[in-house]
Amino acid sequence: MTTPDGFGRGTGIAGAARPPAGAGYPGGPLPGGVPVPEALAHLAGGPRYWLPPQPDRTVPAAPAAPPAAPPGGFDVEAVRRDFPQLHREVNGRPLVWLDNGATTLKPRQVVEAVAEHCATGTSNVHRGAHTLAKQATQVYEEGREEAARLLGTQDAGEIVFVRGTTEAVNLVAQSWGRANLGVGDEILVSAAEHHSNLVPWQLIAKERRARIRPIPLLPDGQLDQDAYRDLLGSRTKLVALTHASNVLGTVPPVAEMTALAHRYGARVLVDGAQAVSHFPVDVTALDADFYAFSGHKIFAPTGIGVLFGKRELLEAMPPWQGGGNMIDSVSFEETSYAPVPHRLEAGTGHIAGVAGLRAALRYLAGLDRPAATGYEEQLTAYALGALATVPGLRLVGDAPGKIGVLTFLLAGTDPMAVAGALDQQGIAVRAGHHCAQPALAAFGLRSAVRASLALYNTVQDVDALVAALQGIQAASAG
Ligand code: ALA
Repeated sequence: MTTPDGFGRGTGIAGAARPPAGAGYPGGPLPGGVPVPEALAHLAGGPRYWLPPQPDRTVPAAPAAPPAAPPGGFDVEAVRRDFPQLHREVNGRPLVWLDNGATTLKPRQVVEAVAEHCATGTSNVHRGAHTLAKQATQVYEEGREEAARLLGTQDAGEIVFVRGTTEAVNLVAQSWGRANLGVGDEILVSAAEHHSNLVPWQLIAKERRARIRPIPLLPDGQLDQDAYRDLLGSRTKLVALTHASNVLGTVPPVAEMTALAHRYGARVLVDGAQAVSHFPVDVTALDADFYAFSGHKIFAPTGIGVLFGKRELLEAMPPWQGGGNMIDSVSFEETSYAPVPHRLEAGTGHIAGVAGLRAALRYLAGLDRPAATGYEEQLTAYALGALATVPGLRLVGDAPGKIGVLTFLLAGTDPMAVAGALDQQGIAVRAGHHCAQPALAAFGLRSAVRASLALYNTVQDVDALVAALQGIQAASAG
């Protein structure tokens, strides 16, 4: 099958027809483009390839209209007043925080909640002999209930506290995976995944002698649904999917992909780290078996995150760590375990982190979410149009409906140098491989610059980025 790009379906990792190295892009590889590293050959499983032709974004285009004055009930200026860090300077310039894919800033409500727990509310939980233990337990369990509400489950027992998305995936791989994967079983992992939704599967696959099969990308960064359907089979035991790519911004059709996986009896784990702060999530509507996110990407502190698992799956999972809090009774002869979710939460949890998470989720719940999402969508459209006016800028990932993750290359410049030059102007972006080497490799890249938006960013932030990039480009050309 030949697609309009002329390369055939599956022009991505494990795709069927690919251009030879250097041939996919007129005039040779992209600036910054490199062969897919040898270390990734097991994923690529075939010849190296380059980013296929894209619309020529070097032709200046008129930016989309900026977001209209506060749409619906979302007032970005009011929200900005809640985030103290937005009002500091870096390198003598007002901070423009465009590194939200790495971590989000914290509203004062979160800062105050953590401070209050540490200052006057400190206690351990679930050891309810005294008033402060009861209060801390209440905060902790309310945090769990807020997470359940955020994800659209009625059952807070389906919420396991973890350190973050990475730990959530490792928990499922080490517990569910070890119990359920066998020789020759297959784990489908999308080529857009963050390393945290790939490497844990590689570890358990090696141990269980199971096999990882990549779901390839299309040229715009969408997941190749035809290839996905071809990959699914009786050996498929698990599908690992991002709900929003941290490097391409792609939002895959998770509900449809999950329904397909379920036809084969496979389970689906969704990495929601980049999704939860951008749009409402409903694990019940998605029918996801597991869903993970990190607190620090949704305005809460680092070190606290959430694993959602369907109750029947969690209940069937063996403990993955042993210790306090996860037991029912212990003796040298026999130990029995607490019910879920506590069975999967050995040791003292990050109580201050949950206090912050509870505050962050309440903060978000207090906003008009559909209006906030609409605002971010408009801002993303504006940013895409504005970036297209920068000479020599090429976007990586152009899927329809993408979130405001804007990964790009600037002709003749090194991504780290671009990030450094932006930093001198107070603009924080990330550069490098973004912990998603296979996703970048699918575009023939090892490194790129990424600006990532959150609901508190503005047209002025985007304009500052674009003006700075134009300056960097002019300096490098001159
Ligand atoms: N996962 C984070 C990022 O994408 C760290 O930058």
